[in-house]
Amino acid sequence: MKKCIAVLAGDGIGPEIMKEGLKVLDAVAKKFGHTFEYKEAMIGGCAYDTYGHPLPDETKRVCSSADAIYFGAVGGPKWEKLPAELTPERGALLPLRAHYGLFANLRPAVIFGPLADAASLKSERLEGGLDILIVRELTGGIYFGKNKVKSITLNEGVVQGEYAVDYMIYSVPEIQRITKVACEAAMKRDKRLTSVDKANVLESSKLWRKVATDYVQKNYPHVQLNHMYVDNAAMQLATNPKQFDVIVTENMFGDILSDLASAITGSIGMLPSASLSDTGFGLFEPIHGSAPDIAGQGKANPLAQILSGAMMLKYAFGLNTESEMIERAIMSVLEDGYRTGDIASSARLNATLLSTAEMGSKVTEYINKM
Ligand code: IPM
Ligand code: MG
Repeated sequence: MKKCIAVLAGDGIGPEIMKEGLKVLDAVAKKFGHTFEYKEAMIGGCAYDTYGHPLPDETKRVCSSADAIYFGAVGGPKWEKLPAELTPERGALLPLRAHYGLFANLRPAVIFGPLADAASLKSERLEGGLDILIVRELTGGIYFGKNKVKSITLNEGVVQGEYAVDYMIYSVPEIQRITKVACEAAMKRDKRLTSVDKANVLESSKLWRKVATDYVQKNYPHVQLNHMYVDNAAMQLATNPKQFDVIVTENMFGDILSDLASAITGSIGMLPSASLSDTGFGLFEPIHGSAPDIAGQGKANPLAQILSGAMMLKYAFGLNTESEMIERAIMSVLEDGYRTGDIASSARLNATLLSTAEMGSKVTEYINKM
């Protein structure tokens, strides 16, 4: 198979972990006789520094001509004070998600058995492992509603202060299409779906709950649906995560709950994601950020980036065997005690600490052996 991949490494640890992601993809390509052509383009702060914009037209051209987008991370303190539309997050990442209609964000929170000792929960709460899929709506809600900052002025025109407002808006079709994605996923799993909202307070959540209920009842009668308020969902995730199979939720709740889920599974350095449009075009990125505090030190865990590559093979190219091979290689690497700093636990005595590049090479070595 021949595929063209837009490679957007971004800022901070992005370039370091991307290098490892590509190393692993190359190993897979070699083993199975595929050709992956990489087209690199700039995004985020580095693009702003070079082109004066965090999402240059050239980058969009590269993405549009590719079969999938492989993304690292963007952002950093250097660009935080720019006007909103020029920041890496609001000027590049969100517009990119919107531009390609990537409304369905799949964030699997899986505990790798050998990492149970690095997880934040007592191991009896994770007995038998953990496998949750968070389906986060990614192109709507408060991230994309109108927002503004305004000054409050008194009658005499004296500025009294500022107020800021963000609108959380959801329409029926937006809720239906993400519910559908979640139901399709649930049907391939344990057929249990938890819809998370704040329907006791928010109108958008009341609509969400009603639409999700109707949609599941009518179209997926075999899916067992329950509803949970987001505050309770956070508590349930932190205390009894094994009750969940698939979680579907709006954009901001999904952002928050997926960070929490990553802490439960061991480290934010372990969680990949796939963001898909209704045509199946996708962007694949780790859920973590650019970690500027550890950038350039070889400390970053490349596994979320590598696992995002595995999701790309599966969801964008239908290469399931290849994708599973990456996951199995990672499992073996962890079983044999190799760790980056974030997942090294004092509970495991004979662990071997690896740098970012060494971890990438180790996974590659295991794939070559398989
Ligand atoms: C994520 C990130 C982004 C988000 C940031 C970088 C804008 O936290 O993908 O979870 O909030 O969506
Ligand atoms: Mg986030």
